[in-house]
Amino acid sequence: MAYIEIVGGKQLSGEVNIQGSKNAVLPILAATLLINGVTKLNHCPRILDVEHMIEILIDIGCTVTWEGSSIIVDARGLSTDIVPTDLVKKMRSSIILMGALLGRTHSAVISYPGGCTIGARPINFHLEAFKQMNVVLEEEDGLIKCVTDGIKGADIYFPSPSVGATENVILAAVLGSGKTRIFNAAREPEILELCKFLISAGAKIYGSGTGRIEIEGVTALHQTEYTAPSDRIVAGTYLAAAAGAGGDVVLRGLGCGSLYVVIQTLKRMGSRIKCYEDSISLHSDGTVRSVPEIITEPYPGFPTDMQSQIMSVLMKASGNSKIVEEIFEGRYQNVPEQARFGAQICLQDRVAHITGVPALKASEVSAGELRGGAALVIAGLMAEGKTIVKNPYHIQRGYEDICRDLRALGAQIEYKNE
Ligand code: EPU
Repeated sequence: MAYIEIVGGKQLSGEVNIQGSKNAVLPILAATLLINGVTKLNHCPRILDVEHMIEILIDIGCTVTWEGSSIIVDARGLSTDIVPTDLVKKMRSSIILMGALLGRTHSAVISYPGGCTIGARPINFHLEAFKQMNVVLEEEDGLIKCVTDGIKGADIYFPSPSVGATENVILAAVLGSGKTRIFNAAREPEILELCKFLISAGAKIYGSGTGRIEIEGVTALHQTEYTAPSDRIVAGTYLAAAAGAGGDVVLRGLGCGSLYVVIQTLKRMGSRIKCYEDSISLHSDGTVRSVPEIITEPYPGFPTDMQSQIMSVLMKASGNSKIVEEIFEGRYQNVPEQARFGAQICLQDRVAHITGVPALKASEVSAGELRGGAALVIAGLMAEGKTIVKNPYHIQRGYEDICRDLRALGAQIEYKNE
C-alpha cells in the first residue's frame, strides 16, 4: 500500500514552480464540449481529477491527448449525452458537464453526485437555475435526465454564491438564445478563467469576477488555445508548509492577488511575505502566532480549501486560535487525524478552537480527503521525526506531486510502497 513518509522538523528553503489550477482546468475541460472543434489547453496539472475528467470526455466520444502539460480536446466526435455513472461517482465536480452538454446537445443524463466527505453538497441551485432556462428535469433511480428545446436566457438569483452552479449556468447560457443574468454569482478567480476561456472562443460574457454576470447567447464557438493559471490553493499549501516549518521559499508562477486573504493571515501568524508579479517569497523563523478568528467565506474571503492547512500551522502557535468553517460542514472530519500531532483541537459544530503546542509529535495518520490530506503533510513537516501519511491518493486528486514539490523546497519527503 502506498504512503507518504516525511522526516520532519527541518526548515524549508528553495524554489518551486506551481502547477496549473485544478479548479480552473476542470470547468474549462467541460467547456471544450461546447466547441465543435479542437481546443488546446496549456499548463494543465497531471492529477487524478483531471485524468477522471479526461476519461469522461473520451467515454462520451471526444478525442483527448496530452502533449507535455497541454491537453488537446477534439470534441467533434461527441456521440452521447450520457455521462457514465461510475466516473461521476469518482469525481463529484463532473456535475459541471451538465451545463456544457445542455448547451451543445440540448440534453444530458448524469447521476446524482450525492454528498462527499466534506459535506452534503446539494445541487439544488444548479437544477433550479436550469429549470428557469427552459430545461425539463426528471429524476429517476439517482439519475438526472435533462432536456430542452433550446436554452433560453433568464434572470438567475442564487441564494448564496456557488462556484459550480455559476459555472453550470454560464456553460448552459453561452450557446442559448437571449440574455442570461446571474445575480449573486460566485467571484472565485476560476470563474473568471472559465469566462476568459469562453470569450477567447467567441462567447459574449460581461461582468465575470463580479457578483453579477451577463451572458448573451451566440450561435457557435470557435476553436481556441488557452493557458490555465497556476493553482492558488497548491501555492497556499506550500506557503503554509513553510510558515509552519520555517524557512525561506519562493513560489513561481503566480502573484499574491488571488491569495490576498491567505497571505494577510500568514503575515498575522508571523511570516514575512513579499509579492512580485509572477512569484511569492516567504520567510518564517518557524515560530507561529495564534489568530483570534478565521472565517471561511466565498471569494474574496478566506478560502475553505485552505482551512485545514492553516489549522495545521496553528497547531504550533503560541496561544489559542479559532476557525469558523462556513462553507463545508464536513471539513472538520480530518481533525482527529490532525490532533494526533499533539495539539488540542476542540470542535463545536462549525467552530474549531485550537490550542497550539510548542512542538508537534510525528505520527502515523491517514488522509481522508484532498485538502485534509495536504494538512497532514504540513503537520508532518512541522513535527520532529518520522510521519507516515496513508491513503495519499486523496492528495493526488489535486496535487501533481506534493513530494517532488516539497523536496524542491528542501523537505525530506517521499512516496513509498509497502
Ligand atoms: N450549495 C448549495 N446548493 C447548490 C450548490 C452549492 O447549497 O446547489 C452550497 C454548498 O453546500 C456550499 C456552498 O454552497 O456550502 C458553496 O459550494 P460551491 O457550489 O461553491 O462549491 P463547489 O462548486 O461544489 C468548488 C470547488 C471546491 C471549493 C468550493 C468553494 C471545484 C471543482 N470545486 O466546489 O474545491 O471548495 O468551490 O470554493 O471548483 C477543492 O479543490 O478541494 C474543492 C473542494
